[in-house]
Amino acid sequence: MGEKETAVKISNLNKYFADLQVLSDISLDVKKGEFISVIGVSGCGKSTLIRIIGGLETLTDGEVLVNGETVKKPSRKVGFVFQDHRLLPWLTVEDNIKLALEKGTKDTDEIVDKYLKLVGLESFKKAYPTQLSGGMAQRVAIARALANQPDILLLDEPFGALDAITRISMQQELQKIWKKENITMILITHDIAEAVFLGERVVVMSSRPGRVKDIIPVDAVCHYQRTGSDFARTRDRIYQEFFRDEEMPFAYNI
Ligand SMILES: Nc1ncnc2c1ncn2[C@@H]1O[C@H](COP(=O)(O)OP(=O)(O)OP(=O)(O)O)[C@@H](O)[C@H]1O
Ligand SMILES: [Mg+2]
Repeated sequence: MGEKETAVKISNLNKYFADLQVLSDISLDVKKGEFISVIGVSGCGKSTLIRIIGGLETLTDGEVLVNGETVKKPSRKVGFVFQDHRLLPWLTVEDNIKLALEKGTKDTDEIVDKYLKLVGLESFKKAYPTQLSGGMAQRVAIARALANQPDILLLDEPFGALDAITRISMQQELQKIWKKENITMILITHDIAEAVFLGERVVVMSSRPGRVKDIIPVDAVCHYQRTGSDFARTRDRIYQEFFRDEEMPFAYNI
């Protein structure tokens, strides 16, 4: 079997906001169906990076190809899940999902049912966002992103606002969806354990301007065993890489 096709190809990407350089010489290839985690300190440009991939932000120079084509604008083939769910409070769960669908989409009821079932919320179709817990609302946001059947799902700290236990169950659900739907996923997170549990590779970024410091492969055993030496070893390696050369006086004991 030949090499898997590339879903996202980032070459020598630089991004400035006026005089402020936010991303420096980022190059990264993401294979179709791959799960990539991206980790880095606050302000290092992670959100900017996936906003560029998703066509929500322009780049200064370099190139970003999605499915072999230069990104010019947002596309329904690239789904986005943000840290906050961004559901409209005056619409039901069902109508929030329908609103995101491309105009003229057929069988919208079936689509809503399929993806709400996938995230375990089929009985909350008629509920309003205020009637949902944070984890449930985030699951609706995932269902909404999946409903357009994207090839690529970009997740910007989707579980950041959730408590630790809900987070773990959401990570498991996301992993199940990834395996079932075979979607390429790029996940931004602050949580090293989350990055290891979900990612097949973990991209560690430096502080501003954000550069790729290292790309650490994760053994498949870490995707189902959070305890044990393999997981601990990978987590420690990322931890060390994360803090290497960063000015963080509180992180001296590593
Ligand atoms: N539209 C914008 N205009 C000007 N500066 C911006 C804009 N968006 C982001 N920045 C700046 O770019 C830098 C990187 O921001 P970004 O949101 O990408 O970081 P991040 O790594 O996602 O941080 P966090 O982990 O806190 O979410 C920050 O210094 C931010 O102030
Ligand atoms: Mg961010």
